[in-house]
Amino acid sequence: MKLKHALLLSGLLVFPLTATAVEVDADAAQALIKKSKCLTCHSVDKKKDGPPFKETAKKYQEKYKDKAEAEQKLYVHLTTNPKVKVDGKEEEHESLKTKNDAEIRNVIQWILTR
Ligand code: HEC
Repeated sequence: MKLKHALLLSGLLVFPLTATAVEVDADAAQALIKKSKCLTCHSVDKKKDGPPFKETAKKYQEKYKDKAEAEQKLYVHLTTNPKVKVDGKEEEHESLKTKNDAEIRNVIQWILTR
């Protein structure tokens, strides 16, 4: 009885962590991207003012062998409003409209797996 209890508990504690690390909630990612107005400048596979997400995924795969490093770079890009050139004019890059770390990481995973 005691052992069963402990197993159940550890299962509950471990499962959500592994689940967020590997699974991408595509619907949630796309909803947040839409809400954050990212689609005015980006699409999955067409060039707009910003690069398509597919191109970014490819670029990051080639540039960063370490997945955690790639994620960290995108995390900074999508939360700190770095300066970018839009149509030759310098602008602050849009950040994701959330303060929730898991939601931000979900979008990053989604982009990196396009
Ligand atoms: C006003 C237009 C605009 C909006 C809105 C915008 N971006 Fe961008 N984004 C750009 C431009 C331009 C670049 C290219 C910057 C560069 O390469 O220096 C870029 C670059 C990126 C990159 C690639 C970064 C890299 O290091 O290669 C990603 C990913 C990205 N944006 C995601 C997003 C997301 C997610 C949102 C919404 C929160 C968003 N963008 C909103 C214009 C925009």
